[in-house]
Amino acid sequence: QTVDLDLGQIEKGGYPHFMLKEIFEQPECLTNCMRGRVNVEATNVTLSAVIDYKKQLLSAKRIIIVGCGTSWHAGLIGKQIIESLCRIPVEVEYASEFRYRNPVVTDKDIVVAISQSGETADTLAAVRLAKQCGAFIYGICNVIGASIPRATDTGSYIHVGPEIGVASTKAFTGQVTVLTMLALALAKERGTVDDDTYFSIVRELSVIPQKMQETLELNDRIAMLSRIFTYARNFLYLGRGYNYPVALEGALKLKEISYIHAEGYPAAEMKHGPIALIDSDMPVVVIATRNSMYEKVLSNIQEIKARKGKVIALVTKGDDTISKMVDEVIELPDTQECLEPLVATIPLQLLAYHIAVCKGKNVDQPRNLAKSVTVE
Ligand code: G6P
Repeated sequence: QTVDLDLGQIEKGGYPHFMLKEIFEQPECLTNCMRGRVNVEATNVTLSAVIDYKKQLLSAKRIIIVGCGTSWHAGLIGKQIIESLCRIPVEVEYASEFRYRNPVVTDKDIVVAISQSGETADTLAAVRLAKQCGAFIYGICNVIGASIPRATDTGSYIHVGPEIGVASTKAFTGQVTVLTMLALALAKERGTVDDDTYFSIVRELSVIPQKMQETLELNDRIAMLSRIFTYARNFLYLGRGYNYPVALEGALKLKEISYIHAEGYPAAEMKHGPIALIDSDMPVVVIATRNSMYEKVLSNIQEIKARKGKVIALVTKGDDTISKMVDEVIELPDTQECLEPLVATIPLQLLAYHIAVCKGKNVDQPRNLAKSVTVE
């Protein structure tokens, strides 16, 4: 008796595409990312880089985060959580702009380079430039021993395993998780976080893999919903605060694999331009979870509905106010505001994936894109 083996199928672990496999791997990836860093009692976070380079990290006056694409989006979330917990100014730069701008960088700066592949040419050049200026360089990479981790002073790997799909998914949530752990570990050393806040974020971070798992159960519903929106030629994604970069990342995923034009915007900026685009053909994805921005985002939804836009809202489970106002709702488990991106990103990855599949696109290898951009 013989068995036909399709090697490609085995590599994809039974999933039709690497991208879907990688989306579904995220709970396990984050568990691996946090292993040995968040202690088992979920009361403390340790990063070996923060222990080994405490002096350099504590003497810094500013942090500059550099990256490209999805890694840059992770940086935008990192900025918010580091500023909020560590009370240190953080700038986020596209590596490609930073390297050609003659930026002001000194030995009082920490430059955090984020790169899944560790090989992106612009990010590597930004690291080298910052090093020449005397900055201390911290890498957040996935591929072990790649060029960027070798060029940095220290860093933390995200440990999410090989990412094959060109559109980054699990690397993004891994990067955000490492940035969150870095913020927590630094804040504790700097004494800028009170115990209650620290413990509650660490505890919640430790259960994020379960909440991601719960969110992945939305897959069938999102697959169905995607069919309704496959026709669209434009999409708008809105979010505020920690969820603004999630909106950018959701729009990027859709552009990359479905070739639908999509823009991410901070929700309050809508009135300064994008609102002019809204009509009954315009789907708007709004991240409207119950957090400090809730009321404000709610009024943005009213403005979109008044112009007959189609709203797909990501809400916190049990929200029956927004569900009455919008066309489609996606209910997410409740979590701490600063950790919401880790949960809210998943339905947006799935939405982009299913729309691209409906359109018959090559999800794992979209046209014109490369997994790692090692040339300019
Ligand atoms: C390419 C990939 C993106 C990735 C970006 C940065 O554009 O297609 O998915 O976000 O490069 O890559 P890096 O490896 O530096 O994170």
